[in-house]
Amino acid sequence: MTGRIRIFDTTLRDGEQSPGCSMNLEEKLRVAAQLEALGVDIIEAGFAIASEGDFAAIREVARQCERATVASLARASIGDIDRAWAAVKGARSPRIHTFIATSPLHMRVKLNLSPEAVLDAIQGSVAHARNLCPDVEWSAEDATRTDPDFLCRAVEIAIRAGATTINLPDTVGYATPETYGAMFRDIISRVPNAGEAVFSTHCHNDLGLAVANTLAAIMAGARQVEATVNGIGERAGNAAVEEIAMALHVRRDVMPFTTGVNAGEITRASRMVSGITGMAVQANKAIVGANAFAHESGIHQDGMIKDASTYEIMTPASVGQGATNLILGKHSGRAAFRQKLDELGYALSDNEFGDAFKRFKDLADAKKAIWDEDIVALVDDEVLRGHDAIKVVEVEVYCGSTGPQRAILTLSVDGVETTAAVRGNGPVDALFAAIRKIVPHDAATLQLYQVHAVTQGTDAQAEVSVMLAEAGRTVRGTGADVDTLVASARAYVNALNKLMVKRGRSALGEMATG
Ligand code: KIV
Ligand code: ZN
Repeated sequence: MTGRIRIFDTTLRDGEQSPGCSMNLEEKLRVAAQLEALGVDIIEAGFAIASEGDFAAIREVARQCERATVASLARASIGDIDRAWAAVKGARSPRIHTFIATSPLHMRVKLNLSPEAVLDAIQGSVAHARNLCPDVEWSAEDATRTDPDFLCRAVEIAIRAGATTINLPDTVGYATPETYGAMFRDIISRVPNAGEAVFSTHCHNDLGLAVANTLAAIMAGARQVEATVNGIGERAGNAAVEEIAMALHVRRDVMPFTTGVNAGEITRASRMVSGITGMAVQANKAIVGANAFAHESGIHQDGMIKDASTYEIMTPASVGQGATNLILGKHSGRAAFRQKLDELGYALSDNEFGDAFKRFKDLADAKKAIWDEDIVALVDDEVLRGHDAIKVVEVEVYCGSTGPQRAILTLSVDGVETTAAVRGNGPVDALFAAIRKIVPHDAATLQLYQVHAVTQGTDAQAEVSVMLAEAGRTVRGTGADVDTLVASARAYVNALNKLMVKRGRSALGEMATG
């Protein structure tokens, strides 16, 4: 049993569905370019019918991808499928991914459809998609809680109607490796036309089993896996693409399969997705966590010095970690900075480059040693802010043990500068209150405020994440600076900009008058 496993990355669709992880068009394009560098086979770029923004982002990703297949999700309706096709048809290799729920619970409660009506919908939707596009994936939502006989009938109909890939998702993260693998064996052996399609896994991580379940399905015959960078996704997330790729690589002795993943790009992809979404990676996360290759105990350190393979089953360099160099300093010029950006995979416009270079020079004045991580944080911060209607112009904060803490803040809102001076219970409270005074947004609540240091040392840049929630919408913002309070203001304002975009209103319309 050998073979090539196709990697279907859904960071831009299922991953983006995690609370506060929505990405704008530029962000999706940057992630898509990195996913191509990572070597994934298929990029699910979004859910075209969901919004104009989603549609535009999928269309652009489709136009710009040079190698990967680009897919859009669609429910089992003509309108959804036509919209998905309109979004992906410009791709070198387009795919329509259509789905409908097949479990008794979902069919009854969610769809209010009889099983026979669901089978008709599968036939109609897949046939319609196939008339438009030669590459059609069909998913049986909640497959792991579906009656196996019914699932066999559904899969057979989908393949007969033209589906080229059959995805059997564990939508609610309910399966175990044994049950998930058994389901694939059962369906593949019983469906008469199973040989005409590629079978695919799609696992959620509610019980922490998403990667284990994915590997079990591969052993049972699946040849496509759906996953996200850092495992981001609904609730506890999706199977993590970097964990699957490295498990298949490191344990090829027991799982003799190959992928197209270029493992050296894993760390860069992880950092990019974490930076753009503001979703920090837990330190002990496999493969990409800050501690994934850290050895603390004396016994382990001793073993590592004698031979790294005593405690390391893969090297940090093999996943693109540790390539970090002490790099530029305050005497570095534009050419050296541009070369470093090229190495780190950034293609900035002239204006973006000019702004980033100025920030780099300021940083070099404030900080002795500048590392790759510093450049990544700085450029992400600068590029992310390029199209923001609200920008931080100046931050002044008075703090200390005697109080009261006070912030004087100037924001530019659609080009108009406004200053507010506000007291608060601590400097961060004062700063955020000043933002609220300039751009009132009373219905939004702060859900998360998180700070972490980009590198080591007391002069390290702080990277701040902020999550705001309003009327069921959640957005995350990030900001980086050597001054934690400046980074905090940038992060909050970044989240606020995203909230404005989600509301679809102009920031000026929200400003306090008088
Ligand atoms: O989890 C799920 O079932 C999905 C499908 C839409 C593929 O994301
Ligand atoms: Zn899913």
